[in-house]
Amino acid sequence: MPTDERESQTQAGPVKGEFIPPPEVADSDERADALPQQEEFWRPPTRFGSVPVEKEPLGWDRRRGFRKLFPQVLLPFQVVERVAFGHPALEPNRLFWGDNLHVMRQLPSESIDLIYIDPPFFSGRQYNVIFGDQNELRSFSDEHGLWAGGMPGYLIWLNARLYEMKRLLKKTGSIYVHLDWHASHYVKVEMDKIFGYDSFVNEVIWYYSNAGGRSGRRCARKHDVLLFYAKGATYFFDYKAAKVPRVQDTDKFSSYFKTDPDGRQYQEVRTKTKTYRYYLDDPKIPDDVWAIQQMGQHDTTERIGYPTQKPENVVERAVVLSCPPGGVVADFFCGGGTTAAVAQRLGRRWIACDQSRVAVAITADRLARGAEQLMLEEVTTPIPDFTIEHWGVYETQRLSAMPPEQFRAFVLRCFGAIDEERQAGIHGMKGAIPVWVGEPNPRKGVSAADVQDFANAVRKTLRYKQDNLRDGIMLAWAFRQDALDAADRLRRLEQTDLNFIRLDQVRIDSPRFREQVAALTTKAADYENFLTFVQPPRVEVGHKRIASRTYRFDVSETAVLNAGAKIINVQWDFDYGKRFSSTPGYSFVRGAKKEPELQAQYEFPDTGRKRIACKVQDDMGGEGLWTGEIEVS
Ligand SMILES: C[S@@+](CC[C@H](N)C(=O)[O-])C[C@H]1O[C@@H](n2cnc3c(N)ncnc32)[C@H](O)[C@@H]1O
Repeated sequence: MPTDERESQTQAGPVKGEFIPPPEVADSDERADALPQQEEFWRPPTRFGSVPVEKEPLGWDRRRGFRKLFPQVLLPFQVVERVAFGHPALEPNRLFWGDNLHVMRQLPSESIDLIYIDPPFFSGRQYNVIFGDQNELRSFSDEHGLWAGGMPGYLIWLNARLYEMKRLLKKTGSIYVHLDWHASHYVKVEMDKIFGYDSFVNEVIWYYSNAGGRSGRRCARKHDVLLFYAKGATYFFDYKAAKVPRVQDTDKFSSYFKTDPDGRQYQEVRTKTKTYRYYLDDPKIPDDVWAIQQMGQHDTTERIGYPTQKPENVVERAVVLSCPPGGVVADFFCGGGTTAAVAQRLGRRWIACDQSRVAVAITADRLARGAEQLMLEEVTTPIPDFTIEHWGVYETQRLSAMPPEQFRAFVLRCFGAIDEERQAGIHGMKGAIPVWVGEPNPRKGVSAADVQDFANAVRKTLRYKQDNLRDGIMLAWAFRQDALDAADRLRRLEQTDLNFIRLDQVRIDSPRFREQVAALTTKAADYENFLTFVQPPRVEVGHKRIASRTYRFDVSETAVLNAGAKIINVQWDFDYGKRFSSTPGYSFVRGAKKEPELQAQYEFPDTGRKRIACKVQDDMGGEGLWTGEIEVS
């Protein structure tokens, strides 16, 4: 039995190469009853007459909810990778590349314990552009971007996502939204409308004294805000797990301390009715001000090298407080993967998502390295594998490796057709029109014989025989000239001869193929890149020995195959083993003008034969991997 098959038998969850079809959910309107019933709270006193007060979140349509502005697009997840850590029977964690609104709409309700998000702040475009790939830049564009429409535009964009997050949270779940002064107060009002004023738990202030802006015109800005809401009245909260030590002013209060028979020190506080005993070695309830320093500029333990990265300690506190061990933590704006890294380290399951391909590559890398570290430390909790899943932008090459039936199902789904084989030679139906799908291999063009066969199949349909409906659609990567001619002939003859039919030939990578998605684009939502196909770059690596055990590597000869694309990031693994995990300091290297470094210099710890891997991402979302061996001397 091939190893792959053996593995897939014991594996829980999807395997590499698989397509996960979207759930069978109707494209229904948003559920208004998911919003809190708090009319009283928002009703202005009658003595003021009719003062308009908006009790619904910005962007909410009374009939369709957020789906009016952001219509639903259901597309499959393409599982491009399953990074394995030796426990295939465990359900894998999930890392998504795609727009989080649409990814979330395809995830099951009430499945997550804790959501921590750190969305782009409402603080100016430049600051928020981190990785620089096209998918990220598009979300900051003047036309559809987050800032088009100022604060209301930002809130509408965020609200649609917060609404979805509430659906995903378990009844006992919580959400922390990380913001700063630019928008936190506005977002608080919106969250009150979505989660309920009574569901607000804390406004946590993350205070850092070693970073942040200073100006002689105001007090130094040294804090961020985390808005913490619980979904229900009974929510998970384990303050002891935060292990905040009880710090006592021993000078002032030592005379109040007592010691119990076990030798533990405590302090007693008496009220009229009760006496409270506080043991000094018990953790205290954390304050809502978290004094945690920002990572140093030259921190090599966790800093990746972009300005909005958050320290693990901040996220860690939210995780231990609000997610039970073994529970599920999600971050739908994952950036460099801080939340997922923390969750994995603390034995929680995780879901992460980002629209930037570079962010996903960095996150994957960080998680693989984190797991390797845990295995070195011989942590006993088994680490689940994780999958990397693409939504909306697909890699042609990986599609071409699919079994034909799976490929057909994928193409039909994307085209808005049903993959019901009603009869031989017809693969599906788009409404009442028969559809045929070509081969997964892009090099295998459709031939005249394929056209004839499909035409014959269409002739046998009831609709052809009874209703004289004579059209059909062929979907494929490419049509050979003889196929185009054959279809043309049919089309022309159809006017004069009843026996002929009309065939439409649609290329899978054409705008016509994605018409149903393009039709959903509203002024508010840019679906321009959904359902597009990308090619991986062909990575070429040159190397040169420059000193003993020291080599310079160069990827500048790499061929980027997506039109107009350029290399946006390079990652190196100088000790490539079972899985790619970049050598620390070689994942997100930027030059003086923030451009990606195409050269890397590395001093190997010893001599001998070495396996090396290099991953390159282009700014359209293509990613290529190169592996090779060199003799280090
Ligand atoms: C401030 S960063 C997050 C940084 C992260 N907390 C960390 O520590 O690395 C915000 C991230 O949100 C991502 N993002 C913005 N809009 C998105 C969307 N619609 N869907 C998914 N990710 C999005 C950006 O690409 C960016 O990586």
